[in-house]
Amino acid sequence: MHALILAGGSGTRFWPLSRPERPKQLVRLFGEGSMAFETVRRLDGLIEKEDIRIVCGKSLAHDTVESAGLPLDQAVVEPMAKNTCAAIILGVVAVETKVESDPVIVVMPSDHFVANQGRFQKLLAEAAKLAEAGNIVTLGITPTRPETGFGYIKFADSHGSGFNVDRFVEKPDLDTALSYLNDGHYLWNAGIFIFKASTILAELNRQKPEMAQAFDRIRDSFNTVNFESVLEEEFSTMESVSIDYAIMENAANMVVIPADIGWSDVGHWAAIPEVIEAGEHGNVSNHDPVLIDTHDSIVFSEKKDRTIALVGVRDLVVVDTPDALLVIPKSRAQDVKFVVEELANRQ
Ligand code: GDD
Ligand code: MG
Repeated sequence: MHALILAGGSGTRFWPLSRPERPKQLVRLFGEGSMAFETVRRLDGLIEKEDIRIVCGKSLAHDTVESAGLPLDQAVVEPMAKNTCAAIILGVVAVETKVESDPVIVVMPSDHFVANQGRFQKLLAEAAKLAEAGNIVTLGITPTRPETGFGYIKFADSHGSGFNVDRFVEKPDLDTALSYLNDGHYLWNAGIFIFKASTILAELNRQKPEMAQAFDRIRDSFNTVNFESVLEEEFSTMESVSIDYAIMENAANMVVIPADIGWSDVGHWAAIPEVIEAGEHGNVSNHDPVLIDTHDSIVFSEKKDRTIALVGVRDLVVVDTPDALLVIPKSRAQDVKFVVEELANRQ
């Protein structure tokens, strides 16, 4: 099995720890290293390191592979960001040109959390068998809220260790998400896909023939002096669309495996208690703040010798870095993006 890790984050939701020039995958939020490092580590023992590639933009390629503990030649570099369909297919073409057979490939984001690595690997091995038979396999998560930022998968009858997919709906509106939550037959798409290269390329050909032709030209120029210029030219006119809209919503032979793996997409600061166990009174921190009569709050600091004290507060997020300090109620955690916007306007 081969792996493609997608690293295209824009560094807005974990400001000030993440920045546009240091997006979430390069930041350490939990575990031993950056999120990209933790993503690679999650595959330890299942996939050879040399078979793991990271798809990312030019400017962050060096930092991303370095932080993930991979050599530079395992970066698949996009000349410009064109969303996940182009990123994934570029990665698939890069794998295809290195191996002779029709490999099974797992695609995963670089910025998620999985609590149960053993279970995750077991499910990937099962998914690989289903993918070998020509299915596109996804991991599905039991929904806990009417989240509108995810894809929803309606599962039908059982198929091996998973279920056939009745329908895939990317980012429904709130009322629809609520009805899916209450229906009981929908799972969230975890954004982790497993397929054979030939399966996904056949779907691309069927659903996005122009993109397929662009990638044929890119493939033909591999290992020639023209590669960079062909890649740049094709990407400049490539449709910018996510794999979910481009392929998954109308894919044939899709199978979902329910994945009880302790998954979180670590979407914003308020999601930190999903990935780091809370201490006394529900507070979570990466160091040792003084907390008096403080509840359900999050304190992060990049400065180990800094004393941070909170008194008499609840549901607050405090993030301290050498050049920026954020204080925001947990309920407004998503609004950090407005700070990043305002800072960009000031430049
Ligand atoms: N290399 C590269 N290039 N990576 C990209 C690009 C790109 O142009 N665009 C996005 N990515 C990376 C992101 O960094 C992330 O790791 C992953 O691809 C998914 O992109 P997101 O932008 O985070 O997608 P999403 O969260 O809106 O939706 C997807 O994930 C959800 C689960 O977290 C969808 O697959 C949903 O269906 C799914 O529920
Ligand atoms: Mg995401």
